[in-house]
Amino acid sequence: MRQKIVAGNWKMHCTVAETEALLKGLLEGKSQNDRATVVVCPPFTSLEAACNLLKGSHIRVGGQDMSEHPKGAFTGEVSAEMLLTLGVSFVILGHSERRQYHAESDNLINRKAKAALSAGLTPIICIGETLTEREAGQTEQVVGTQIDGVLAGFGAVELGKLVLAYEPVWAIGTGRTATPAMAQAVHRFIRERVSGINQDAAAKLPILYGGSVKADNARGLFEQPDIDGGLVGGASLKADEFIGIINAA
Ligand code: PGA
Repeated sequence: MRQKIVAGNWKMHCTVAETEALLKGLLEGKSQNDRATVVVCPPFTSLEAACNLLKGSHIRVGGQDMSEHPKGAFTGEVSAEMLLTLGVSFVILGHSERRQYHAESDNLINRKAKAALSAGLTPIICIGETLTEREAGQTEQVVGTQIDGVLAGFGAVELGKLVLAYEPVWAIGTGRTATPAMAQAVHRFIRERVSGINQDAAAKLPILYGGSVKADNARGLFEQPDIDGGLVGGASLKADEFIGIINAA
């Protein structure tokens, strides 16, 4: 049985005060699911407040990005150690918005993942095709190339410490979710591709689905045999909605 994970990607939302209000709502809300790992990923400026407020709770904290470098003259960047020493345990890497607006390549994401793993953070590495690529029938080719790039040099040990998130770009923030069958087909493909590196590690690897996950469509997605939870954007900003998704996992 693979671990179910529900991670909330808050993107550029929530000041410190808003972070505390949302997290209090999550802690007070009645989640009936104590088996899934729950992660919230607020912006950098709210990480310390989130770690303080969630200390001792079941909710873990993640960053939304980090530098590939341990320290140095990299204006605006944040290192793995800076995240870790705050109490952060996960980090999203290679989100499609980072790929699109900051030109992040598979190669860079691979180096960031190596830095995260050597610091002891669990990377949530994002992959996924655009609408044009899907319509051109290139989904498997694109996702396959991304997997090969972001996981380059990794073996069973590294695969045992990371999470993948399949997020079709056309489903992010659009309200257009992949159907459970469409998502499952790509998740199966991803697991098979990772099997080429190590079969046992691929069988144990959590692969999350992301892209317009809501409380009312989460169950159908999470029931699929190769979908191990979700990476949730918009719906993670409302406590009730996020708890509904956690309960579906
Ligand atoms: P969304 O975002 O749930 O708002 O579509 C998902 C993501 O970008 O991780």
